[in-house]
Amino acid sequence: MEYDTKTPLYNTSDKTSFAYISAKDRWPVIITQGIDDVHRGIIASDDAETQKQGKQIVEGMAKLKYELQHDRQLTPLEDDGEPDIAGYNKELEQLGNPTWFDVPWLYSECYMYRRISTLFKRSSKWTNYDIFARQKISTFKSSRPAVIELAAKYKELVTQLETGKSAQQTAEAKEAADKILFMEMSEICLWGNATDLSLLTNLSYEDIQKLQGSEARKASEKNILVNDLEAAYETLLAAKKAGKAERRVDIVLDNAGFELFVDLILAGYLLSAGLATNVVLHPKSIPWFVSDVIPADFGALLNALADPQAFYTSQSDDDKHAERAPSPPLSPTQAEELSFLFDRWSGFHAEGQLAIRPNTFWTEGGSFWRLPATAPALHDDLKQSELVVFKGDLNYRKLTGDAVWDPATPFTTAIGPLGPSSGVRVLALRTCKADVVVGLPEGRDEELRQMEGGGGDSGCRKWAWSGKWAVVQFCDGKA
Ligand code: F6P
Ligand code: MG
Repeated sequence: MEYDTKTPLYNTSDKTSFAYISAKDRWPVIITQGIDDVHRGIIASDDAETQKQGKQIVEGMAKLKYELQHDRQLTPLEDDGEPDIAGYNKELEQLGNPTWFDVPWLYSECYMYRRISTLFKRSSKWTNYDIFARQKISTFKSSRPAVIELAAKYKELVTQLETGKSAQQTAEAKEAADKILFMEMSEICLWGNATDLSLLTNLSYEDIQKLQGSEARKASEKNILVNDLEAAYETLLAAKKAGKAERRVDIVLDNAGFELFVDLILAGYLLSAGLATNVVLHPKSIPWFVSDVIPADFGALLNALADPQAFYTSQSDDDKHAERAPSPPLSPTQAEELSFLFDRWSGFHAEGQLAIRPNTFWTEGGSFWRLPATAPALHDDLKQSELVVFKGDLNYRKLTGDAVWDPATPFTTAIGPLGPSSGVRVLALRTCKADVVVGLPEGRDEELRQMEGGGGDSGCRKWAWSGKWAVVQFCDGKA
């Protein structure tokens, strides 16, 4: 806490904030869905001990939901053998053992997911169980139209890069084309974040499919409120021109499924275009904020692409449960394009050019303001990178400390110790799904509030809650 910003933090007690709405309306739904999922696991098991432990986990989640809905105190986390428990409990004490509706939003939301995780880690039969796995893979399946569209585009692009078609262009024309492609790939990667599963409580599958298509992306360009992609591109190009042998890009991941798919599109493009020689992906270590990537999700995505026909046409238990009709088979071209992706990505992975590197820092309860002081080894590792891309809303909240900044505060100020001279180049690709926002031109927040659904004079920054608007912000910590 001593390393955090002194700017006040968003708190669940503020009824005009999304903090309050998420605690009141969203978290109970998320916990209930988790309970349902474990129930299904219990029914599917014929082992008495698994069933018994499953019931204890359900009781633990029901207790958590009760305490939340009755505004009880957050209780210290029970020891599950992991080293981060002490930090969570120390902070809880420092916060004065708060109640659910009067606690900093960021800490309490992390605490909720960490507490659910203790229930599983303390069991012997459910230790690595992910209550969100079914949702993650089935939403990826329902992203089929956008996945197919992007796979075709990716194959064409990478084939052009590899067969040297683009080499016939002049160096200047090639650079201009590379820049446009970089911007497009990054924007695909940005909007892939608009559809995280924790918002599924109010979005239908059809809504999601509409949000993922290329038409939607073009229409959304005007919704990027600040766009620093050019500056980020220039740093990668400069490193390439300087002839550096190892040029690494890191992606601090957000959600699994479609978003991870587009993250891999960006990663694969950077490697094929020579804008990076290595890409390191940073997933979470425990099930987190519903849809966040854990290492198993990476494997699940590659497995799906390894045999795309089987993945799309087979009906999973989850499809049957949701009464989803079986999908029609892929055309041979579509199946081939998806297999192309699999070959490339698994090839990069096997060669060590695409690595996945978990760290428990990402699931601690605090902001990234603490990174240099509390996770110096991770900080040093990120300094080795040319560019660290932070995906999504939660990472943005953690970068900015989830504090009530004036929205015109420069991004470089709001990220504190990860700002100038931190040694880390930060690029945030974030669709706005929470109150905190910085780096806007003076007066822009007021304008957005006055637009339809923007919050008006209610005191709520409603425009920033839906994922419709985005910010792409860069800070060169090596400058
Ligand atoms: O529960 C609210 C929240 O933490 C918001 O920050 C956001 O709506 C969502 O959960 C997580 O979004 P993302 O997956 O983009 O981090
Ligand atoms: Mg997420």
